[in-house]
Amino acid sequence: MIITHASVADLDGILALEQDGFAREEQWSPTAWAEELTAADRFVLAHTDSDGQILGVATFSCAEDMADLNRVIVHPQARGRGVGASLLRAGLEWAQALGATRMLLEVRRDNASALSLYRRLGFDQISLRRDYYGPGRDAVVMLRPIEGEEDEWALGR
Ligand SMILES: CC(C)(COP(=O)(O)OP(=O)(O)OC[C@H]1O[C@@H](n2cnc3c(N)ncnc32)[C@H](O)[C@@H]1OP(=O)(O)O)[C@@H](O)C(=O)NCCC(=O)NCCS
Repeated sequence: MIITHASVADLDGILALEQDGFAREEQWSPTAWAEELTAADRFVLAHTDSDGQILGVATFSCAEDMADLNRVIVHPQARGRGVGASLLRAGLEWAQALGATRMLLEVRRDNASALSLYRRLGFDQISLRRDYYGPGRDAVVMLRPIEGEEDEWALGR
């Protein structure tokens, strides 16, 4: 499996992941993804198999010392094999190279797989946003430091 920089040519594959990954009301639109893929301040990574099929996607941004994980999605049949973790590790390396010292994310409070992945990679909850995704759908806000040796340990090297 290979991690590459995603482009507009990957849009259809990414939209298929989006539809499998989220309930309709939480899906990003084709326009939103097209903008994500072309914006200068976004870093979108695709995890592909040997046939070039996209198994996972993640998008990040960075402003000064704060990086954000904006979205990560893995094909249902490829989950639980570390695809999400590999995308996050690549994003953390990108953010570190840009000089970020922290990465922030939001995740639905009931998204057990994502919470487990984020905790395993060193993210800690810093706050809770009530009804962030709609009534009764709270967001956990998580932060992870990005720094030298500790980072290398947490990245699992
Ligand atoms: C969250 C998500 C990206 C994780 O991707 P992944 O490639 O499965 O990540 P990992 O392989 O590193 O595993 C994540 C955890 O979920 C578990 N898991 C998730 N799906 C699984 C499955 N189908 N079978 C077995 N384990 C699964 C893994 O065992 C792992 O748990 P652990 O940390 O306790 O070991 C993926 O579940 C997904 O795409 N979900 C839908 C979209 C979403 O919610 N994105 C996050 C919010 S933006």
